[in-house]
Amino acid sequence: MRYVRILATVAVFVSLMNVAGYAEINTRKLTLMPWPAKIEMTGGRYRLNQSFTVEVTGKPTGRLFRAASRMLRRLSQRTGLFFSQGYLSPDSSVENPCMVIQADRRGRLRLYMDESYRLDVTPSRVLLKANTDIGALRGIQTVLQLLEADSSGYYFPCVRIEDHPRFPWRGLMIDAARHFMPVNVIERNIRGMAAVKLNVLHWHLSDNQGFRAESKTFPKLTGMGSDGHFYTQQEIKAVIKYAADRGIRVVPEFDVPAHSTSWFVGYPQYASAPGPYSIERKWGIFDPVFNPTINKTYVFLGKFFKEMAGLFPDKYMDVGGDENNGKDWNANPKIQAFMKAHKIPSDAALQTYFENRLVPLIMKDHKDVMGWEEILNPRLPKSAIVQSWRGNASLENAVKKGYRVILSKGWYLDHYFTASQYYLVDPVPDSGLTLQQKKLIIGGEACMWSEYVSPENIDSRIWPRAAAIAERLWSPRDIRNVRDMYRRLDAVSLELDRLGLTQLKNQGTMLRNLANGYRVAPLRTLVDIVAPYDIYARVKAKPYSAFAPLTRVVDTAVPDPMTARDFSFMVDDIVSGNNPMEDTVAMVEHMLVRWKENDANLEKIIDRSPILREVQPISRHLSAVASIGLDALNYIRHNTKAGQGWVKASLSTISTDAAPCAEVKLMVIAPIESLVKYAGEK
Ligand code: ACM
Repeated sequence: MRYVRILATVAVFVSLMNVAGYAEINTRKLTLMPWPAKIEMTGGRYRLNQSFTVEVTGKPTGRLFRAASRMLRRLSQRTGLFFSQGYLSPDSSVENPCMVIQADRRGRLRLYMDESYRLDVTPSRVLLKANTDIGALRGIQTVLQLLEADSSGYYFPCVRIEDHPRFPWRGLMIDAARHFMPVNVIERNIRGMAAVKLNVLHWHLSDNQGFRAESKTFPKLTGMGSDGHFYTQQEIKAVIKYAADRGIRVVPEFDVPAHSTSWFVGYPQYASAPGPYSIERKWGIFDPVFNPTINKTYVFLGKFFKEMAGLFPDKYMDVGGDENNGKDWNANPKIQAFMKAHKIPSDAALQTYFENRLVPLIMKDHKDVMGWEEILNPRLPKSAIVQSWRGNASLENAVKKGYRVILSKGWYLDHYFTASQYYLVDPVPDSGLTLQQKKLIIGGEACMWSEYVSPENIDSRIWPRAAAIAERLWSPRDIRNVRDMYRRLDAVSLELDRLGLTQLKNQGTMLRNLANGYRVAPLRTLVDIVAPYDIYARVKAKPYSAFAPLTRVVDTAVPDPMTARDFSFMVDDIVSGNNPMEDTVAMVEHMLVRWKENDANLEKIIDRSPILREVQPISRHLSAVASIGLDALNYIRHNTKAGQGWVKASLSTISTDAAPCAEVKLMVIAPIESLVKYAGEK
């Protein structure tokens, strides 16, 4: 056991860490994410200078010219180099281009589109080749991630990459119904998706709490069901174009027959209970549901989906189908009589009846349907895609019946799991399926439900964790090293920050609001190592509704905070004897000292900012726990074994009050427990 040395360079290392993350200092390696299917380092560097130029050849599209132009500007902005080349276009040509992008045909935005590319960087040129312009777009993101720097300037390391996705459906679902997300939120998240090669935006556009897409046929949907917060058709077209320009499909979801209160505010005649209805303000599962027994429901939905089929060009229309509690069906005597007359034995069977009348209407509009796993029934057409969200059983059940499935179980971003937890979920089970059945698993989606997110903090709930899911969906199955994933995830987050995503920058605003002033350092110290406790604890903690403030510490803290994770890795290195850098102990000590002393400083801010009062217990607990951590470190450093009495008392103190407070949890408890246990070992 044990280390003894502390260098006087702690401050330098800690500040370095804030730039790079602990793992980053340990290993200087490529920061590609998702990791390519095949990559070979060929040695040497391609150096960028201001004469860097790009040519687009083959059968280039406007989309590819625009993407190449954006790439050039981003390289210029990152390097500060004044490239002479401006916008690329079919009319602009360059002599002896430094980089050539070749795409042989236009890629069609659809399931199974060709997204493969090859990238060859040598000391004298960069060559990106793809069958389709969409493949070239994916390759451009890889090129941007390859940019590195040394004391001589900026360069691309020489590599040969042959890349293609493992799964064709790599989605992000954004719930814009519960909290409305303005167009700029959607567009910046589309930029984030493109950066990590996600290719489907699943746009959840209606729910009990709001109807968010303009219908010209049924204007009361948004007129009465949206509080005025909805996307006009013009805005929807603009978002679809913005996504298409980045090789991303947009699949709308209109959730029926349940999750439908907002429809009935303007159109109560299609509901199963008489109404009147008002927009739901609370979170949960609610009773309103379409009346599946009357013909006019299908006339209405047929017209509605026909209009939406014209607005959204994607082949897939998502009809939701989840969480119908059946209560309003059971309470309606006419519906009960209908079930009896038609020998429909259960609510589930009545929903099947509903789906089987709805789906043909949508297919008549040349669409295929998708929906949550509840839509699965024996008469569902095999063209339908089933989204598994409750358990792996539904995924296996669906593929065994011959349906294509996408996975979302395990990938709910609103559940605040760590990136590593999401990362290690794999859509394909280890056993129990034939090769043919495995092929029906076509990918998955990260899901951002929006009960507890606002436009201000949504990016920090999606990113960077969704990038870990993006890698699972793109990269080979055996790319699973968590520590290396985090090293690259930190780099991705910086890139997303540059792209205008707000997962890092909005925290500053939120901290200033909380501190009611500019001096936020002690508050930041605390927020950097707490995370929202868990979604189910939140449900019970406060009277949450659509009007709840989402500006408290729990909303400001991020799931899986980098500082806590770095601390945890450093402690792992110490207690595993895993050859930590000699400064690791010093860095751990520095952090523990800061945490121990933080409470006194935070008190001063709390005094002028009552919104923070609720975190006082957790701040005090941090101080006590950090103090124990320092004692443990002392034992470790002096190679002295701590007594079992001390170990036991310390662990007890650490776990006391470790329960959630203000809906957040301290993310450094487990590593400090490790230090204490290690101090007591032989
Ligand atoms: C769902 O989470 N209700 C699909």
